[in-house]
Amino acid sequence: MLAQSMRSMVAPRRATALRGFSAMASPQKFAIYRYSPDTQAKPYLQEYTIDLKTCGPMILDALVHIKDAVDTTLAFRRSCREGICGSCAMNINGKNGLSCLTYIEPGANAIEIQPLPHTYVVKDLVPDLTNFYNQYKSIEPWLKRKDVKAKGDTEYYQSKDDRLKLDGMYECILCACCMTSCPSYWWNPEYYLGPAVLMQAYRWIADSRDQYTEERLAWVNDTMKLYRCHGIMNCTSCCPKGLDPAKAIVHLKEQVAETYKDGWKSMMTEEINKNKGRESGMMYS
Ligand code: SF4
Ligand code: SF4
Ligand code: FES
Repeated sequence: MLAQSMRSMVAPRRATALRGFSAMASPQKFAIYRYSPDTQAKPYLQEYTIDLKTCGPMILDALVHIKDAVDTTLAFRRSCREGICGSCAMNINGKNGLSCLTYIEPGANAIEIQPLPHTYVVKDLVPDLTNFYNQYKSIEPWLKRKDVKAKGDTEYYQSKDDRLKLDGMYECILCACCMTSCPSYWWNPEYYLGPAVLMQAYRWIADSRDQYTEERLAWVNDTMKLYRCHGIMNCTSCCPKGLDPAKAIVHLKEQVAETYKDGWKSMMTEEINKNKGRESGMMYS
């Protein structure tokens, strides 16, 4: 009698568990890189199975669902969820991309999600991008003028044709997908500026309003900063915004070759000495 009443107590719980599993209309496995700075244990892939009917169609939707409903300890970056902020860049089934712009492709195999390759990992899918941001800062990504506009003038004008020269570069969202897919950057991240930073260097060199073109060219004309690019094209093939950093690097090398002067080195020394108090690239030799 006692055993019977115990069985009747246990049975509904089991039935609920079974119903919960079979209720997954569209189960999909995800294998996600996990690393915790608290334990500093060896990183591993953790498998999660979720019902695709319960989340949106993008990889980011699945991650948000896992964090909300399955495992709150999972860490990843995201903000805009529409390919604008660049913060959700990660490696999905071996290819760098934005998780908010990458559709879940259902299948029998687990979808593997790793942080951007060859980066130090802060936690799980969160890479440390300090080196990238410092390199970006080093190219001084802002308009620099020798003739400052007169008081009352509001703009530095630019022709429509000159403005068009910036297309394909200004749209970069600094997601670092290209940087971390570039083998040259993997081997020399401290010295080689990498595709996104070089494209942004060229974006300011190509800007007709900027008056530091020669200094900028002299600054990047360096065996390690620029000439580690060997045209492997990984950068261009993974850019989620459809940009072509490899082409910008080709233009940059061409412009260096066309305009090179022996005086560049002394000009750079002068610039560095003039700007000792500034925390950016032009102050470094
Ligand atoms: S060039 Fe493309 S991949 Fe590289 S940082 Fe910019 S948007 Fe991202
Ligand atoms: S083209 Fe240059 S920057 Fe792009 S992946 Fe290849 S080596 Fe890197
Ligand atoms: S969340 Fe902003 S680009 Fe993906």
